[in-house]
Amino acid sequence: MEDEVRVILRDAAAEPDRDAADRFTPAASSKPRAATPIKDGPRILLIIGGGIAAYKSLDLIRRLQERGALLRCILTAAAQHFVTPLAAGALVGERVFTDLFDPQSEFDVGHIRLARDTDLVVVAPATADLLAKMAGGHSDDLATAVLLATDRPILIAPAMNPRMWAARGTTRNLAQLTADGVCVVGPNAGEMAERGETGLGRMAEPPEIAAAAESILRRGAALAGKRIIVTSGPTHEPIDPVRYIANRSSGKQGHAIAAAAAAAGADVVVISGPVNLPDPPGVTVIRVETAQQMFEAAEAALPADAAIFAAAVADWRSESESARKIKKQPGRTPTLKLTENPDILSSVAHRTSGRPRLVVGFAAETDDVIANAQAKRIKKGCDWIVANDVSAESGVMGGDMNSVHLVTGSGVESWPPQGKDQVARALIERIATALDEAKR
Ligand code: CTP
Repeated sequence: MEDEVRVILRDAAAEPDRDAADRFTPAASSKPRAATPIKDGPRILLIIGGGIAAYKSLDLIRRLQERGALLRCILTAAAQHFVTPLAAGALVGERVFTDLFDPQSEFDVGHIRLARDTDLVVVAPATADLLAKMAGGHSDDLATAVLLATDRPILIAPAMNPRMWAARGTTRNLAQLTADGVCVVGPNAGEMAERGETGLGRMAEPPEIAAAAESILRRGAALAGKRIIVTSGPTHEPIDPVRYIANRSSGKQGHAIAAAAAAAGADVVVISGPVNLPDPPGVTVIRVETAQQMFEAAEAALPADAAIFAAAVADWRSESESARKIKKQPGRTPTLKLTENPDILSSVAHRTSGRPRLVVGFAAETDDVIANAQAKRIKKGCDWIVANDVSAESGVMGGDMNSVHLVTGSGVESWPPQGKDQVARALIERIATALDEAKR
């Protein structure tokens, strides 16, 4: 392996115009490709972890450059036992970053800029240790500090011994990372570096990783130029200054959809009821309390290409709101008279002018989930309904998982149980495709 790197470096120095990657994969040399990275191509930060597969990451640099990417590279301390900063730097075309406390790179670029001035972070190989640190939110070296600080998509290519891959700790860490929205490519099955060891744990091949990176970057722009409105969270309907009618919605699904739409390049307005969540990055947040306020904010946020109504809007409010706290009086139980709230989804979906091209509602059901959702789609006049079972046993209300059925005019798709972030990304991908098709 070291010999291989030496040859690449020697050849790169001798023939600066010629592409060293050609010698990694001879077949690639005959393919047409962009030898020089496009000046405004996507920026990728490659973090090389410390595993034997690190040598393949040198090939990965070239595969990504072939696709027009501009690369920066971080080597962990462990990675430097397998590849040198000089080898990686020669391929990247600039010095690589290795040290969180290196004053020169901190003043020059700095770990926060490394984390932000990129469109995608690729971790290859992602060792078991690096996965554990990422899942735990550690930041004790440059690689982990950047991974913690970045708000860009992250793609990991795990590589480790099959037993380490199958270990409960790794499974737990991986579940955490996918729930956090980290994308994973591989590992593949095959022979390990250790003689006689085979199984699942080989790092995905560089062309596979490059293809995964490309698809994430393409997805990143799927909603560029589109305006999306999302409603999220519960509404609170006041009874008096201290009491209100509410529901158990956490806003997690709506906020995840807003974040996924923004990550896909959309201009996103989320109209949120009272939630205990951070604002989704890159999104305009309009905070409201009542259904009436949410209705007015949604109307004011139009026009939009798509509107997604994920809020659990209270159907009723108290007919009158007492200006003073209603006092308890012995023997007298107050009666609450309710009046209906505006139906925001139905009102937007039935608009004859200024209707978004795609109107998506949610159906929170405890019984006959699909049948009720189908009826709701017709009644509310929306294009799609995302139906979910919100019975107490499902754990959906307030939980991180969701199991939904997508009800459209052409049928019902039942998606497997998955994290709310994953549901959000899948829905956004579908919305991007639908908006694209509607344009044609
Ligand atoms: N919705 C809305 N405005 C309301 C009530 C509901 O925009 N006043 C939207 C929700 O955001 C969701 C969809 O309508 O997208 C369905 O909400 P859901 O609570 O399931 O249905 P309801 O219309 O309230 O009917 P029911 O409670 O009888 O099932």
